[in-house]
Amino acid sequence: MRVLVAGATGVVGHPLVGALRARGHQVSALVRAASRAEAPDADAVVTADALDREALLSAVSAARPEVIVHQMTAFRLLGDDPAGAFALTARLRTEGTANLIAAARAAGARRLVAQSIAFAAAPAGEPVLDEDAPLYLQAPDPGWAATVGAVAELERLVLGSPDLAGVVLRYGALYGAGTAYARTGGTGQSVLAGRLPLPGGASGITSFLHVEDAVGAAVSAVESDAVGLFHVTDDDPAPAAQWLPHYARTLGGPPPRTIPAALAPRLLGWFTAHQLTAARGAANARARTALGWKPLRPSWRDVLGQE
Ligand SMILES: NC(=O)c1ccc[n+]([C@@H]2O[C@H](COP(=O)([O-])OP(=O)(O)OC[C@H]3O[C@@H](n4cnc5c(N)ncnc54)[C@H](OP(=O)(O)O)[C@@H]3O)[C@@H](O)[C@H]2O)c1
Repeated sequence: MRVLVAGATGVVGHPLVGALRARGHQVSALVRAASRAEAPDADAVVTADALDREALLSAVSAARPEVIVHQMTAFRLLGDDPAGAFALTARLRTEGTANLIAAARAAGARRLVAQSIAFAAAPAGEPVLDEDAPLYLQAPDPGWAATVGAVAELERLVLGSPDLAGVVLRYGALYGAGTAYARTGGTGQSVLAGRLPLPGGASGITSFLHVEDAVGAAVSAVESDAVGLFHVTDDDPAPAAQWLPHYARTLGGPPPRTIPAALAPRLLGWFTAHQLTAARGAANARARTALGWKPLRPSWRDVLGQE
């Protein structure tokens, strides 16, 4: 099939281009002009900024894709400008997705697979939730509420577009080379410096996902006829009280200290406090059944902190 990968220089997008080509697909990489030097080996490289609608329409038309994969975020900016990274990612999820859908329809594509997140659910009910759980649109932190609002809009656009079969892959917390959880990533560095403590009972649950499994799920979604919303997570959702000490040990960092839960939002920021104390995990049964996908790394316990 002719496939276009938007975000083809990214942690997921770059290896995805190679994985799709290895399966025999003809793959166009969509990159921004400034990132062209980092483009992966592809059958074609097309250039556009997703926030420039006309440029995107002409780049996508040139590639004539049957299937488009949207892996665009601005999280690369997180270290230097966290507020800007979230604001730009929200624009990519809303305006960028709308532009990509317009371009997909103009180019005659029949299928769109888009990256979303598996940790945007409201923290209510069971410790591990399925895709029907409501999103945390009313989060008390305005920044997180805005992020979840943009996620909801991306999902609405992808699943609601006539003539285009939509798939939303809600990735768990990505780990592996190039991610925040790599030794050199933001979370890895915080843990090595002893800056990520355990608040209270640390019962917030994280569902992890190795980058290679994010790539594998995107390949499955490209090749499948299934549509809808899927959690793409490993089989081992775990509370912070388990994964954080294990991760610190594997990295060779100090054991995380314990702090009172009430201090966590002020010391760690609202989102990290929420993740460590209240977040729910995300069950992957639907992706396994409908996409025929399963994680090659079923548990973070074997690999988190080693790359
Ligand atoms: N998912 C989350 O909520 C979350 C939260 C915190 C941290 N993270 C971290 O973020 C990373 C996620 O990996 P990822 O593959 O999603 O992101 P990524 O590695 O940053 O890749 C994003 C891709 O989007 C492209 N892009 C950005 N702005 C664009 C624009 N205006 N037009 C066209 N393309 C644009 C980038 O291209 P350029 O090369 O041109 O920039 C890049 O190819 C992981 O390291 C993860 O640990 C994720």
